[in-house]
Amino acid sequence: MVKWTDFERAAIQDIFSKIDYGVVGPAALSRCLVVYPWTQRYFGSFGNLYNAAAITSNPKVAAHGRVVLQGLEQAVSNMDNIKAAFADLSVLHSEKLQVDPGNFKLWNYNISEL
Ligand code: HEM
Repeated sequence: MVKWTDFERAAIQDIFSKIDYGVVGPAALSRCLVVYPWTQRYFGSFGNLYNAAAITSNPKVAAHGRVVLQGLEQAVSNMDNIKAAFADLSVLHSEKLQVDPGNFKLWNYNISEL
């Protein structure tokens, strides 16, 4: 298990406190779907994802981008027990949605590139 220093905890919490989920979440998910189009396969119920303009103006993409960042907040609020905090989301993504684990790395790039 990761042992966080007080400095690391403060830095991570400070960064998250400054993130506007309603801006960064939609931008990150849109970027993911445009730049790595194979990730669209998991979002078949989101309607029109035909091109970059359709993706960036799709309200389901925007809403879900925000939801994912709120999901990440669970880790920030439970830094000493991230595994337990993410237990349900882990089962959802691996067993129900069958998301290829490589896609989580892509998602990280999308947040860090914004
Ligand atoms: C940091 C990484 C991620 C976090 C924190 C996260 C978080 C979440 C959350 C909170 C939900 C909603 C769960 C619910 O409704 O109970 C969700 C749903 C979902 N996630 Fe993720 N997710 C992540 C990465 C990914 C990746 C990489 C993919 C695929 C490329 C993905 C695909 C989906 C899909 C398809 C749904 C269901 C959407 C729907 O039908 O509304 N997620 N995720």
